[in-house]
Amino acid sequence: MSLPPPTFVTRPQLPPLEEFIPYLREIWDSHVLTNGGPFHVRLEQALCEYLGVEHLSLFTNATIGLVTALQALRANGEVITTPYSFVATAHSLLWNGLKPVFVDIDERSLNLDPAKIEAAITPQTTAILAVHVYGRPCETAAIERIADTYNLKVIYDAAHAFGVRDAGGSVLRHGDLSVLSFHATKVFNTFEGGAVISPDAKTKQRIDQLKNFGFVDEVTVVAPGINGKMNEVSAAFGLLQLKRIDQALARRKVIDARYRELLRGVRGISCVDTAGAAVGNHAYFPVLVGPDYGLERDALYHLLRDHRIIARRYFYPLISEFPMYRGLPSAARANLPVASRIAGQVLCLPIYPDLPLEEVERVAGILQGGERAA
Ligand SMILES: Cc1ncc(COP(=O)(O)O)c(C=O)c1O
Repeated sequence: MSLPPPTFVTRPQLPPLEEFIPYLREIWDSHVLTNGGPFHVRLEQALCEYLGVEHLSLFTNATIGLVTALQALRANGEVITTPYSFVATAHSLLWNGLKPVFVDIDERSLNLDPAKIEAAITPQTTAILAVHVYGRPCETAAIERIADTYNLKVIYDAAHAFGVRDAGGSVLRHGDLSVLSFHATKVFNTFEGGAVISPDAKTKQRIDQLKNFGFVDEVTVVAPGINGKMNEVSAAFGLLQLKRIDQALARRKVIDARYRELLRGVRGISCVDTAGAAVGNHAYFPVLVGPDYGLERDALYHLLRDHRIIARRYFYPLISEFPMYRGLPSAARANLPVASRIAGQVLCLPIYPDLPLEEVERVAGILQGGERAA
């Protein structure tokens, strides 16, 4: 008898295949496969409406979006960033020849701690690259106050923040540019994909040129741009995905609430407060495994694997621990005490729209059992 498939931390949301066929037929009929075709235009418009932003440029993925955003802002020298993120955040700096300067995170939000930013600013600092980790908004007002004082650009890596709103509206309106990811593992996916959100039409135009090799017209190239264009199949798929996004987000909310209910009494396990927003997206369900829990974090991670539950240690190791970063003075653990502690405690539990509640109960049951191992 074959075992049932494992439960992964996430599972991409897919519409019924039959619904996608008419979109593919339209692409086949038109022979327009990329280069800002009709689906590309439609998805940009639809996402602007859905997200409540005015200027959005689709990308092939968020990493190229981040690289391009830093180019567009002409960042140079040093950029302040968080070690507690997916490695693409800092890699986008290295791809631009920029020096990352790691600043510690706040222990409640797990985002860049604004109180520690100023001490890291030098005459070479030109920008802050912050991340809305797990879709929880950064302290944008505090970050932007510092940026104004020191004349720094602000880029938000909003890879996790699809649909997140704060009291004033979309979290994507903050900073000079924000970057979304539509990777298969994200709340909203186009297989691979992403978007850069600009504050005005002129900035969007520059982003659009940069993602298309720097072309302005057929014979004019104004910058050493890259190929960051989203293709028509992904754009069409995005339009179809948008039809079910509200249902998917609602379902994530139910799962999040159920986990919190089941884990409330478990000593040593704390559920991260990932909201901090008027509207969150429940993209991840991180818990912290404290010293008073019956097992170490890694032992719990392996125990779950023994039960075919593939939780993930996002974000362990810290970016600052990887070989291309660890020699930087700001990468020293003594500089990053909160991030270092959290990286040793965090575990992201499975959450995705069609995760059955019985499976949520099974996962929580294993965590409850681990408590008794003490
Ligand atoms: C915080 C963060 N930034 C950037 C990325 C890169 O996104 P993409 O895979 O779309 O390039 C990811 C995840 O993939 C991420 O989690």
